[in-house]
Order: sequence, then C-alpha cells, then structure tokens
Amino acid sequence: MCGITGIVSLDLDNIGDLLVTCGRKLTYRGYDSVGVAAVQNNVVDLRKDVGTIEEVNKRLGLSSMRGDRGIIQLRWATYGAPTRTNAQPHFGCQEVFYGAHNGNIHNYYEYKQELIETGHIVRSENDGELCVHAVDKYYEQTGDMFEAVRLSTRDLKGAFAFAVGRADAQEIYAVKMGSSLVAGVDKNITIVSSDLPSILPVTRNVIYLRDGEMLRLTPHDVKVFRIEDGKELDRPVELSNIDINAAEKGGFPHFMLKEINEQPKVAQDLLGILDGGNIEKWAGLIEEASRVYLVACGSSYNAGMVGTYYFNRLAGLPILPAIGGQFIPMYGATLDDDSLCILVSQSGETKDILNVLNLVRENNLGKTLGVVNVIGSTLMFNADSYIPMGCGYEVSVPATKTYFSQTIIFAYLSAMLGKRNGTLDESEANRFLNLLRNDLPRLTRETIDHTGILAKMLAKTLMDANDLYCLGYGLTDGVAREGALKIKEICYNHCEGMYSSEFKHGPLSIVTNDYPVIFVTTTEDSWMVINHINEVSCRGGRTIIVGEQEEKLEPYVKKEIDYLTVPKTDVLLNPLLDVIPLQLLSYYLSVDLGINPDQPRNLSKTLTVD
Ligand code: F6R
Repeated sequence: MCGITGIVSLDLDNIGDLLVTCGRKLTYRGYDSVGVAAVQNNVVDLRKDVGTIEEVNKRLGLSSMRGDRGIIQLRWATYGAPTRTNAQPHFGCQEVFYGAHNGNIHNYYEYKQELIETGHIVRSENDGELCVHAVDKYYEQTGDMFEAVRLSTRDLKGAFAFAVGRADAQEIYAVKMGSSLVAGVDKNITIVSSDLPSILPVTRNVIYLRDGEMLRLTPHDVKVFRIEDGKELDRPVELSNIDINAAEKGGFPHFMLKEINEQPKVAQDLLGILDGGNIEKWAGLIEEASRVYLVACGSSYNAGMVGTYYFNRLAGLPILPAIGGQFIPMYGATLDDDSLCILVSQSGETKDILNVLNLVRENNLGKTLGVVNVIGSTLMFNADSYIPMGCGYEVSVPATKTYFSQTIIFAYLSAMLGKRNGTLDESEANRFLNLLRNDLPRLTRETIDHTGILAKMLAKTLMDANDLYCLGYGLTDGVAREGALKIKEICYNHCEGMYSSEFKHGPLSIVTNDYPVIFVTTTEDSWMVINHINEVSCRGGRTIIVGEQEEKLEPYVKKEIDYLTVPKTDVLLNPLLDVIPLQLLSYYLSVDLGINPDQPRNLSKTLTVD
C-alpha cells in the first residue's frame, strides 16, 4: 500500500521527469492519488491530485517540474478519503518541510490532537502528514535535522516508512519502521524507495535496510543510522541483477496476461532453484517441529490450502493452514518453542504476516520458515530460513505466477518430505519430482494455449453473471478458492470459492435456471464431484467444469466452452494446472467488462497495514 520515492541529485534540473519515471514502477502500490514535491533553489513546488500517475501527470505536468531533488508518492487510501488535500506529499506548518509516508500511524487521532493543541497547522485527514509535522516539531526543539527525524519516530506508533526533506537543504532523510524501504547510490545521485523496481531507472547499486534504521541521502552518498541511538551503520552496497524489463509489458496488453504466460518459465526456473536449494534445512525445520502452521493471506493462503493437501497426501504431515490476520487470536496461544510457522507471502511485507513473525521472534515461540518472492523483504531477512519463489517481479495486482510458484514449492517439498519419512517410496517420489522437473513447464504452456481460447469465449457468456460459485474438492479446494478470488478481485462479480461437498449445506438454495457454478476437479475426485454437479444441474444450474477431459463428465456441460480441459497427465499435477484456465477466465472477463485487471479498484499489491 502506497509507494514513495525520494531522489537527491547534484545537478539535475528536471527532477520531475525522473520522479515520474521511477514512480511509474510503484503504480501497483496505489493509484488513488499522486503527488510530487520538487525542490529548486530552496523552494518547494508541490503538486498533487486524485487519480493515477498518468492522469495526474497529464493534469498537473509532474514530469516538467524543475529541481535537483524531490519526493513522489502514490497513495492507496486508508486514513482520509482519496482527495487532493489528503494526497501526499505534505508540507509541515510552513512550506519548509515536505514529506510523504507509506504505512499507517496508529496513534493518528491522539497525535493529531496533540499537534493541533501545540499550534501545528494540520491540513488533511491523512496520517502521512503527521510524519512531516513530527519532524517539524523536533526541528523546532533541536535545530538539527538528523535529530529531528530520529526523535520524530518516538511520537509515531505503527508500521510505516517515510521520506522527508527541508527546502533549504540538499538532502533527504528516510525512516524504516515496519514498511519496506530500499536505497540506491550512483555518481552524483542517490535514491530511496518503497521497492526495488523504482530504483533501477537510476542505479543498480542497492542498499537494503532493516526496521529501526534511518538514512540520509545527499547527492554523493547514502548513510545509514540506527534510530535508537543514532549510531552510523555499515550497510554494504549490493549490485542488483534484477531484470529491468520485468517491469515492462513485453508486448502483452496487460501485466496480468504477461505474468500468466511467464508461468512455464517460472516452473522451469523454480525447479532448478529448489533442486539447488537448502532442502536439508527446510525439511529439517518441518521434521523437527512438534506442530506446523502455514500462515498466509489471500492468494498465498489459497496456495497454502493446496499445500496442506499435498503435505497430507505425499508426506503424511498435518500442517494447519491459517489466515494471517486470524492466526494470533486463533492459534497464538498454542505456539511453543517446538512449533514452526511457515509464513507465505509474495511481497514479504504483508502486515498480517509480519505480526506473526514478530510474535514468534519476540517471544521465542519456535521457528519460522518464509516462502517469499521479493528479495530484500522484511520476511526474507527475518525468518529463520526462507524458500525463494523465484518469480521475478510480479507487477499486476492480482497474484498469478507467484500463486503458481507457491503451489509448486509445496508439491516439491511434500514429495521430498514423503521420501525422507517413508510415506512415499523412493521411486514414487522420484517419479513425481521428475514430472515436476520435466513435464510441468511444457504442460503449463499447453494449458495456457488451449484453455486461453476457451476461457476467452466463455468470458463473453458470463458478462451478466454478477454472482457465481467456484467449487473444488480435495486437492482442488484451494484452486477453486483462488479462481473465485481472481474473479471477485478483477471482475467485481461476487464469486464464492468453497468446498463442493459443502455447497449443499445451504448455498445450493441460490441455484435457479442457468445459475453458473464452476467445478474444479482432478481425475481422482471426479466420481465424487459428479454428485455435486448433479445437485446443481438437476435444478437447472449451469455447470462449468475445469479439469482433464473425461467421458463421464461430458454429459454435464451444455457447450464446449463450459469445459475448460487441461492436458492429460498425472493426477498430482491437476491442481497445479487447473488454476490456469481460471486465471485466464478472470482476465478475459475483466477486460470484457472494461476493467483494467492490473489495477483493480480499491486494491494494492503490498498490504503493509493491519
Ligand atoms: C490476490 C492477491 C492478494 C495477495 C494477499 C497476500 O490476487 O494478490 O490476495 O495474495 O494480499 O499478499 P502477499 O502474498 O504479498 O502476502
């Protein structure tokens, strides 16, 4: 949620252009409003408004703003409606301090009141403004910018990061207190940002930061300090080899379609990473634990559901899936020093997940194993060990290739664990692992090509379906939930994902003539799923099936497009492939409905708030 980038250069005079170029790479973080503060000759030009970066740039000419330093902010609204006044950056009391934040200030109401009572002019209802005032307040007391920034963090409660500058100083300070922040340094220019892709237009020399750290950027260097005592820290500059084109659409109309099409390569690369990875450590953590929880949100949770079935089936392991925000009230008291939390998060910054990570770490409640995509994220740095998803950057807000990667990781890990503990005999485990290595990338490609055409046609017939269900059974439970989430998220239709045998316990009453219900199945479970299909079709409902072509299922679809068939293969690959037609269906339906699937309304890719 929200993205900030600050740049300090020695002699640029068109900082607006560079800030917009870098800011575009943060579009996925927020598109409620955008603002730029550009500083030239010690005067701050602040322009901001409601809309996407392209809309606001066109309206206010952000790219043509002059100056050698400045800050851009893209907002995903939490505190304060998406209005011009609430847009960031903000000024302090006068047009001297300027700054913007990402995250949430939890003591917003009390602190705003306190500031107002002590004479501060707070203009907006946005918590980011308080960060600038806090610095303003301590500058008044100390006359020292470094101390003002450092002390400001004592007043601000929550998880956040902010960047702040003074009109008359050629420097920008930034603070990392629970939200992501990376810095970059090159000749005569430095940069700080919420995420790596927006640094890459400036430099590949990157500095990763930890929570509780602050930094000072000048045109020549980036210095990192510990907030607690102001001590300067030695942080290495690392060369990033991330593909800069990853943040381009590469000929596809949307990032989402590009990322769906990257899945064959994701499968191939990931298997290489896993084979060369630290399986001893990862498997050891699971084997040594008395209790294992799998904690995740949204799509990552759905992937975890698929994982739970694999762990049970292939390794005979009971792994308890839990939704990130629910975990502490539901299972927190059951943690002890023998437990393991597998924390699954694409971004590695999701607050609901970091809350669990922090609880475990601060109270020595066992171990944590991260499953994470973003290198340099808080989860990656702070988990006891982590498994990389190896997807490269996922730009589109709906998760596709990262969900896919997570399910492969769980399938792989389950087979490895099953081989080690004897649940699978060695030849059976090796056969499945070889299927993943040798067949999955090709089958993924075939599935995209074949079901893409059908999904596109099917989407046209669902444009008026404001309400539908997507049901799975056994290994496809999580797949159906994921399909439903995709449809809800980018088509704005109400689509509920649930267990197919549970449908008759209430929801079945919704079925009338032509009411659409999607069934996701494996060849192993279709004998059972037919019962659930019958319960819908005999009431006139429209049944749409996702799975392998099976003669016994054919009578239940009225048209060819109602049967999204994946290639014939081993039943254990079905859950991996079945999600693809659902991703494609949601994509085409979204586009047909005139929605931009990459930027669904009200959402943000990285949710660093509670
Ligand atoms: C859905 C989606 C979200 C995320 C969820 C968790 O397409 O992208 O549901 O899966 O916000 O995000 P991470 O995996 O970054 O913790």
